[in-house]
Amino acid sequence: TQRTLVLVKPDGVRRGLTGEVIRRVEAKGYSLVSLELRTATRELLAAHYAEHEGKPFYEPLVEFMLSGPVVAMVFEGERVIEGFRSLAGATDPTAAAPGTIRGDLGRDWGLAVQQNLVHGSDAPESAEREIGIWFPSL
Ligand code: GTP
Ligand code: MG
Repeated sequence: TQRTLVLVKPDGVRRGLTGEVIRRVEAKGYSLVSLELRTATRELLAAHYAEHEGKPFYEPLVEFMLSGPVVAMVFEGERVIEGFRSLAGATDPTAAAPGTIRGDLGRDWGLAVQQNLVHGSDAPESAEREIGIWFPSL
């Protein structure tokens, strides 16, 4: 069975949407195996977002992710990586399909970076890498 790292980003925590995100993922049938509320650090985000280093949205993304606590979770289940990406919807919350977390709950606020409520790992290798970053004991 597969695992994925899900983050409720600072915008989702601020807006009180953590429970709604967990509800949708659990309702789809995935199991929560670990959960922690915490404020990221620059070092942790540099590791987490290494693939985006140097891109124009990188610095605003890191500042946004440091702007408040995030809820980090590990969910488990058959094809959970794909399943959560499908629940989350497209990266741009304005364009994300209704029925998805981003499509139902997010929008463009006119800020420097897309505030799109959640993160989900995009492949098995990135999931294991990201779980190692956020939950070194797992
Ligand atoms: P995550 O699940 O958060 O990784 O989203 P994603 O996989 O849909 O997007 P990606 O990994 O490509 O980018 C990580 C995050 O950077 C996104 O979730 C956005 O918050 C932000 N981001 C990505 N692309 C852009 C962009 O073109 N412009 C801006 N302003 N922000 C972006
Ligand atoms: Mg990504």
